[in-house]
Amino acid sequence: MPDAPRAVHIPVMPREVLQWLRLSAGQVVLDGTLGAGGHSSLILKAIGDKGRLIGLDRDPMMLEFASQKLTQTNATFVRASYSDSAEILRQLGVSAVDRVLLDLGLSSDQLADRQRGFGFDAGGPLDMRFFPKEGRSASEILEEWSESELERIFLEYGEEPQAARVAAAIGRRRRRGQAIRTGEDLLACLGETCGNPGTEPGRTVATRIFQSLRIAVNDELKHVEKMLTAVLPTILNPGGIAVIISFHSLEDRLVKNAFKGHHGWQVLTKTPIEAMPAEVRINPRSRPAKLRAAQWLPSQPGR
Ligand SMILES: C[S@@+](CC[C@H](N)C(=O)[O-])C[C@H]1O[C@@H](n2cnc3c(N)ncnc32)[C@H](O)[C@@H]1O
Repeated sequence: MPDAPRAVHIPVMPREVLQWLRLSAGQVVLDGTLGAGGHSSLILKAIGDKGRLIGLDRDPMMLEFASQKLTQTNATFVRASYSDSAEILRQLGVSAVDRVLLDLGLSSDQLADRQRGFGFDAGGPLDMRFFPKEGRSASEILEEWSESELERIFLEYGEEPQAARVAAAIGRRRRRGQAIRTGEDLLACLGETCGNPGTEPGRTVATRIFQSLRIAVNDELKHVEKMLTAVLPTILNPGGIAVIISFHSLEDRLVKNAFKGHHGWQVLTKTPIEAMPAEVRINPRSRPAKLRAAQWLPSQPGR
């Protein structure tokens, strides 16, 4: 029997996550983006046997990775979006939590799976859904959405200056009856318009287009916004801390505005925390990461 695949994801800013979470033994912690459980394994050590960890992920593949790694009986894993965590906690009989960690976006394990369509070299269908049973795949979006809608997501989520040219090229391909089914098809289409994706600047355009598609496919900003505004304040105990790592400027802005926009939050990180150069050298994925932390103090007088 071949060995089960091993997780390749390296958790971002592990030291800083622990520093800002300020964990202690016995706490109840929600890891809303469990992934392969890298951060969660550190959290479990810090909260000890008397603590409790609830780990959520939209992607069933990531739950499998995490369950192989973390077998402690005080850890519960559920396939769900963090934006549904109020409901999940209720079902688990947990009234509120002391700490919440969100490490947004994509894991290196999802990127590495060529059948999921997240990476440039995706040989399988261009899917990109975190939960493959939910919503529209990336290739369906490229087939069905109007050119102006595609231009909007490339511009808004990818900040791609050539958004209109890329959307027009996809439209031309569709009119020629050539569907974009794989990552390679999409790269070929981008190559016709914006230069060879094997070289700069073609690679930069491809990175932005793939990222914007993934955000659109999974409606990622909607989940972040719901979590920040409607859910987090209802699931944290008074004095509880939320630590959120973003990889996209739109997400980081949502986090910053949510923490500033409600009197119940005391912002702990005046400016976002970034990975140290030594970490970026070992784990280049950490380069764009921005960590913000805030404490939930809903009834502080004068705040
Ligand atoms: C950067 S990875 C997390 C890695 C994890 N912190 C670790 O150390 O292994 C982000 C994870 O969040 C998951 N994810 C993305 N959106 C989600 C959502 N709305 N709810 C729950 N999980 C989500 C992805 O499937 C992915 O596994």
